[in-house]
Amino acid sequence: MHARAEIRDWEIRQERAEDESAIAALNEAGFGPGRYAKTAYRLREGVHAVAELGFVAIENGTLRGSVRFWPIKVGDDTVLLLGPLAVDSAQRGRGIGITLMQAGIAAARAGGWRAILLVGDEPYYARAGFAKVPPGRMQFPGPVDSSRLLGLALADGALENLAGLIRRARIDDAVCADSAPLG
Ligand SMILES: CC(C)(COP(=O)(O)OP(=O)(O)OC[C@H]1O[C@@H](n2cnc3c(N)ncnc32)[C@H](O)[C@@H]1OP(=O)(O)O)[C@@H](O)C(=O)NCCC(=O)NCCS
Repeated sequence: MHARAEIRDWEIRQERAEDESAIAALNEAGFGPGRYAKTAYRLREGVHAVAELGFVAIENGTLRGSVRFWPIKVGDDTVLLLGPLAVDSAQRGRGIGITLMQAGIAAARAGGWRAILLVGDEPYYARAGFAKVPPGRMQFPGPVDSSRLLGLALADGALENLAGLIRRARIDDAVCADSAPLG
């Protein structure tokens, strides 16, 4: 029996300004317009992603995947929210998603961030070390399936100490008035 040889022609690099439109198209294809209504999206509204934690996968000059991280407040602490993570639907299953995440996690650790939260499927994100966060300690400012709240501590005890209301970390750009309760 021959092991399947995976040709890895893609590379991971930091996101650049010129990637913006390809990333927007990827996220539109991966999540659709319904993403704007999600609580996790609204925590990002008007807030810039952490620039040095944005990574893309590029193959022969074409963008195959993207991951971004946003700062969020949990109580008085500022931690990271992972997402969106998206891989071109024709390129899935090649390890691009996990490698993007690992690049972001390593950069977050190196940058002194203490914890990462996300809302997503535990069986997938467990591959990058995420585990379910016990419900109740943290409260989102909108509907979230609490069984999908996952966390990764980058420093000892960083998740255990997180508690309180989850809010936008700051406001970089003006947002519409009906978003105000999140701020
Ligand atoms: C989720 C996503 C980013 C994975 O990207 P990818 O490059 O295919 O991921 P990888 O190659 O690193 O891993 C693929 C493996 O994860 C598994 N997997 C993918 N999504 C999964 C999920 N939601 N739950 C459990 N396992 C999952 C695949 O079955 C595959 O398993 P295998 O290695 O045993 O064959 C991609 O499917 C995607 O863009 N989906 C649409 C957007 C989305 O849902 N993003 C995540 C929410 S933020």
